[in-house]
Amino acid sequence: MQIEAGIITISDRASRGQYDDLAGPALRQAAVARGWKILVESLVPDEKRDIQRAIREQIEKGCHVILTTGGTGVALRDVTPEAVLEIAVRELPGFGEVMRMESMKITHNAILSRNLAAVVDKSLVICLPGKPSGAVECLGFVAAAVPHCVDVLREASTGC
Ligand code: MTE
Repeated sequence: MQIEAGIITISDRASRGQYDDLAGPALRQAAVARGWKILVESLVPDEKRDIQRAIREQIEKGCHVILTTGGTGVALRDVTPEAVLEIAVRELPGFGEVMRMESMKITHNAILSRNLAAVVDKSLVICLPGKPSGAVECLGFVAAAVPHCVDVLREASTGC
C-alpha cells in the first residue's frame, strides 16, 4: 500500500517566524526517500488544541501516518505527548521504547525525550524530537514497522 503521510512541526518559535522550520523539511526528505507520499505539512505552536486540530485535519485529508516533530522534551511548553494521548485510541509503547533505546547510543539526552506513537482514528501518529537530525534518526529506528501497522489499521489483508 502506498503510504500517505503528513508532517506537523510543533514549535512556538518557528510558528512565530523566529527561525526557519528545518525539522519538517528534513522529515519530508526522509519520508520521500522511503517511498512515502507527503499529503500535507503543518506548522503549529506548542499548544495542545493546535496540535490536536492539525492531527484531525491531516487525518481528514487521508494521512495514514502523521509524523510530528518537537515538543517531546521536558520543558513546560512541551505538550506533544499529552496532546496526542488525549485523542488517541491507544498508545503503541514499542515505538517510544525503541526510539529512546537506540537514541541513547547517540546522545545521553535521549533519556529526556518522550517520543511515542499512538493510533488516532485509523491513523498512526509518531512523535519525534524537535532537532532535525534527531527526528530523522528516530524515524529511521521505527520506520520498518510502519507499513504493516498501516495495513492493519486500514484492515488490508496481511500475512499475520
Ligand atoms: N534522539 C536522537 N536520536 N537524536 C537527538 O539528537 N535529542 C534529544 C532527544 N532525543 C535527540 C534525541 C534531546 S536534546 C531532547 S531535549 C529530546 O529528544 C526532546 O526533544 P524535543 O523537545 O525537541 O522534542
